[in-house]
Amino acid sequence: MLAIDENTITDAALEQMSATPDPRLKQVMAALVRHLHAFAREVDLTAEEWLEGIKFLTAVGQACTPYRQEFILLSDTLGLSSLVNALHDRRSTEAGTKTSLLGPFYRQDSPLRKPGESIAAEAGGPEICIYGRVLNSSGQGIPNASVQIWQSDDHGVYDLQKHDPSVMDMRGSFHADSEGRYYLRTVRPLGYLIPMDGPVGDMIRAQRRHGYRPAHIHFLIGAPGYRELVTALYLRNDDHIDSDTVFGVTESLVTETRPNDPSSPLPNLPSIRFDFTLGAAAAAEASGRVGADPSQITKSPALASH
Ligand SMILES: [Fe+2]
Repeated sequence: MLAIDENTITDAALEQMSATPDPRLKQVMAALVRHLHAFAREVDLTAEEWLEGIKFLTAVGQACTPYRQEFILLSDTLGLSSLVNALHDRRSTEAGTKTSLLGPFYRQDSPLRKPGESIAAEAGGPEICIYGRVLNSSGQGIPNASVQIWQSDDHGVYDLQKHDPSVMDMRGSFHADSEGRYYLRTVRPLGYLIPMDGPVGDMIRAQRRHGYRPAHIHFLIGAPGYRELVTALYLRNDDHIDSDTVFGVTESLVTETRPNDPSSPLPNLPSIRFDFTLGAAAAAEASGRVGADPSQITKSPALASH
C-alpha cells in the first residue's frame, strides 16, 4: 500500500483518475490536480486558508443569477479569460481581428436593427457613428455578416445593471450589406467599475486594484464558414486604457472617434471606423466565446419552465 504524504498524494489522485475514458477530460483533470497540489505545496496552504478559499468560491457561486455571472467576472479579473482568448487566437489558421473578452454582460437575442439605427433607446450623452466593413482575410467584404454590439451607456452602466432584465438597451444585432458594410448609431460609452458589490469586488479591494475597465464597445461578429469573432473596441483617451482590470485591451483594438469624417455614412456625427476581419473556420472548430449569456448558464425556475 502506498504511504500517503505531501508528495505521494498527487500520484495517488492521478492513479485513481487514470481510467477516465474521455482522453481530454483525463488530460485536463490530471493537469488540474497536478497544478492544484503544486499550488498548495508552494504556498504551504493552511486549513484556515483552505476554508477561506472554499467560502470565497461558495460566495462567488451564490452571487450568480440568470442575470449576473460572478464566476466569469472572477475569471476575467484573474486574467484567465484573456489567456483563453489568446490561446484561441493562436489556434487560428488565418490572421483576423484580435479577440477580446465577451465579459459578463452579453445577452443572446438582442434586438435586430436596421442599418444606421441607434442602439440607445434611453441613454443621453454624445451620439457617435460606428461604421466599417466585415472582411475576409483577403480583404473582401463578407455579405450579410452578423454584427452584434453591446456596451455600457454614457454613465458606464449596462442595461442588466439598472433595468428589469427583460428590458434590453444599448445592444443590438445588425446585418452587413452585400459588400460587408455596416453602420449604426450609439452614444459614447463611459468606462466603468466592474460590479464591486460581490466577492470579486472584495478581492479587488483586498488587492488595492482600482477595478475599472476603460470605455469600450463589445462586438460579436459571425458569418457561415468563418470563425466567430468576439472582440471589443477601446477608446484611447480613457484614464484606465493601460490598466484594464480584466486585461482586455490590446493595441490593435484601441480606437478614437473622428469628427467630420467625410467617408462616414453619418458625417455629422463623430465616428469610429473599424473594419473587422474574420478568418476561415477550421473544421469542427469549438466556439471562441470566453463567456456566455448568464441566463444560459444559471437557469432561474421561471426561465427553466419556458
Ligand atoms: Fe464591457
